[in-house]
Amino acid sequence: MVDWQQDGTGLGRRTLRVLSVVAMGYVVLGIIVGWSLVAAGGVPPWRENSPFEVLPGLAAMLLAAAAALAYLLGSPAGDGRLRLRGLLFAAALFLVGLEEAVALHKLIGSELVMDMALWAIMAVAIRALAVEPAVPDRAVLFLWAAWAVHGLSVVADGAEDGAMASLLSPATAVWIDEFLEYCYVPLYALATLTLPMPAATTDGDGATHARPYVSFVGAALRGALVIWGDLTFGMFRLRYPRATFADFYAHNVARKLDRGASHPTLGKRKRVRRTGKTIDLTTAKHATRGGFVLDKLLARGLRRDHIVVDYGCGSLRVGQHFIEFLDPGNYWGLDVTDRFFRDGLELLPAEVIEARRPNLAVIEPPVLRRVAALAPDFIVCVAVVMHVPPEELDGFIAGLLRLRGTHGVISLWFDEAPQQVRTQAKAWAYPRETLIAAVRRGDPSLACRVETFDSVAHRHGGLPVTRSILWIG
Ligand SMILES: C[S@@+](CC[C@H](N)C(=O)[O-])C[C@H]1O[C@@H](n2cnc3c(N)ncnc32)[C@H](O)[C@@H]1O
Repeated sequence: MVDWQQDGTGLGRRTLRVLSVVAMGYVVLGIIVGWSLVAAGGVPPWRENSPFEVLPGLAAMLLAAAAALAYLLGSPAGDGRLRLRGLLFAAALFLVGLEEAVALHKLIGSELVMDMALWAIMAVAIRALAVEPAVPDRAVLFLWAAWAVHGLSVVADGAEDGAMASLLSPATAVWIDEFLEYCYVPLYALATLTLPMPAATTDGDGATHARPYVSFVGAALRGALVIWGDLTFGMFRLRYPRATFADFYAHNVARKLDRGASHPTLGKRKRVRRTGKTIDLTTAKHATRGGFVLDKLLARGLRRDHIVVDYGCGSLRVGQHFIEFLDPGNYWGLDVTDRFFRDGLELLPAEVIEARRPNLAVIEPPVLRRVAALAPDFIVCVAVVMHVPPEELDGFIAGLLRLRGTHGVISLWFDEAPQQVRTQAKAWAYPRETLIAAVRRGDPSLACRVETFDSVAHRHGGLPVTRSILWIG
């Protein structure tokens, strides 16, 4: 099993499909019940003490039991603290369910106070789980998302009773509350499904990186980005069913550049607006960027007569230095679109292009065959694999290996994290083992060595993300 599959929920595809259909059905039921309450002009008598009334509560209690079981069975052996926190979460969820099913608040006389107290308890329980390194980011995101929806439901509940009528009219609140109750339970369900996973936060040296703090805002923002990325990619695939993530990525960035926006590594960047001003980043600025890759390859024995492929060359930030260094015609810049390298060419002095004759081409099977036949000495791939999603990683690496032929050296620059993590809507950081395993599946005999380029480039959800280079061959 490849690494990213281990990052899955451990459930079979069919089971997951059934569960998601049930969860969706549950949400649809929530909408119907909510609307029917509005249509009936309030809570109709048939609904009081009916299965509809208690369904979210019962579901929450069932989930709580499942979560408790999952923690008892699934948490790494001997990790008592994690088990305790898992059980705390299960207990909090159970209380929420109990309140929904049997109206616990009657004991204290105020539904609003009870709802808010339970919501606060859920926050404490989720926070306790979120800081556990063994709890995957995705679960943390779902938990906070569910908690946010849960909070809205509390507000709607308050408004329904008139206590928060200034925020929502009671009529609107009735159905929003009903609907949200049906929503946050499936969300807690999704989170619960992703909880019992193996601890995956050890790095190559066996050191464990704890996540010291997973903030609600950070997690919510990352969650929104991930959801947004998936939704927009899904829409893109509806329009272009054969499109890969690379096509989606390039299409998006190109559209932004066309609108005049800037990108850290792509485009002419002639119109970067900060504080209302237009800054003109021209040829001179471009020339100062990306030289560090050439330096690394020189240290590995690069000569002028070598053939170098710059895979995912973008706007030649890195490629320009190879173009100047290599003998004429020995640079090959390849990318999924010509949109970016056309900009890059415009930033290079005309005499350099004329003298060095760089080869630039869109990645297509005939081009790849032609370049592979040249037996390139080096293939550099900088800031590209970070935009390759886990599902496309094997194919991506296999493509690089085919291009390499029998003797080339691949220099693959990647964002490295102790566990696979989505750092942006369209970016991932991978553990080195994941990439090496993908290489080995392509060719088990290849030598792989990882060099750290930038030891802690940034942190993501408490995980250190470093810039690293995988040397292959
Ligand atoms: C962040 S840019 C980096 C460009 C250049 N390597 C640099 O460092 O300046 C990422 C580039 O990778 C390309 N790209 C993304 N996914 C790709 C894929 N699966 N195969 C090849 N290129 C890809 C994009 O079109 C884009 O030009």
